[in-house]
Amino acid sequence: MAGGGYYMLCCWVFGALCCLLMLSHTGLALDVSQFAQDYAPYLRFDQKEGDGDRCFPHNASDYYNTRLAGDWSRQCNQDYNTISSAQIPTYWHAQTCGYHLHIAYWTFYGYNHDCDCCSGERDAWWEFLVIKVRDWELSPHLHEVMFGQKKGWYTRIPGHYETHNVTHPVAYVGKTNHGNYHDDGGTGTCCYFEDFRNTGDKDQHMKTWLNLVELRQGNGEGVESWMSDPSTDVWNGQQVPTFRSDWDLCDLTCCTGSSLILCGTCGCFKSDLDDSHF
Ligand SMILES: *[C@@H]1O[C@H](CO)[C@@H](O)[C@H](O)[C@H]1NC(C)=O
Ligand SMILES: *[C@@H]1O[C@H](CO)[C@@H](O)[C@H](O)[C@H]1NC(C)=O
Repeated sequence: MAGGGYYMLCCWVFGALCCLLMLSHTGLALDVSQFAQDYAPYLRFDQKEGDGDRCFPHNASDYYNTRLAGDWSRQCNQDYNTISSAQIPTYWHAQTCGYHLHIAYWTFYGYNHDCDCCSGERDAWWEFLVIKVRDWELSPHLHEVMFGQKKGWYTRIPGHYETHNVTHPVAYVGKTNHGNYHDDGGTGTCCYFEDFRNTGDKDQHMKTWLNLVELRQGNGEGVESWMSDPSTDVWNGQQVPTFRSDWDLCDLTCCTGSSLILCGTCGCFKSDLDDSHF
């Protein structure tokens, strides 16, 4: 711990009161969940989200319970009120990696519609965004942001993504397959960067910091039952974040796929950093 040396010296010279002051100053008392709130993403949706089978985020616990109760009908949240009144959670977990704090945010969707005329639909889908708070204990500042989409991802550096109210990275959500992108646009096909992200006048958005639920592994306090269930049947074959291989946030790569623009996975094309360590 960077402050440790000063702390020891200070205690030796000035005694107990200083110890207390230093303790509160060296980060031992830093509240990670406050960081999770401060840097939580601001999601922006396509103007057609909520119409037909274009779904807003969904409460994963509700979805899980519905499936366990034997109801396999389509679960599509078309109600923007649940988003604007912060009834839908965004799931997060954090990890210290050297001097930096990495925080992953996960959004769940009950259903993805076709991304073109006739393919791409499925039940149950998770999307993520990971942020890096550099030097988080001494002078914290938001730095890299990793945007996840379509089984791939890419990383942007400050100035190369938008922020809302200084600290919240902005992600544009694909209309049908719900990937997180740093930019809007799209041409409405299933190709990697082409899911529509036209916010239009409707300006539908989600302040994820208003309803955050921490992801926890194991069976302790605060673990919702779906978080400790490794089965993928409920999620149409997908693994929940607590069981995915990218749970270790100190072991991520900055992008995946080609650095040339292709229809298939080509996250590195819009990545500021190559496929090195995040
Ligand atoms: C999600 O749904 C469950 C019920 O399945 C409920 O207990 C929980 O409060 C909901 N979570 C949030 C954050 O609204
Ligand atoms: C911006 O963030 C500050 C600090 O969290 C908060 O007090 C303020 O209300 C926010 N402003 C807007 C426009 O959301």
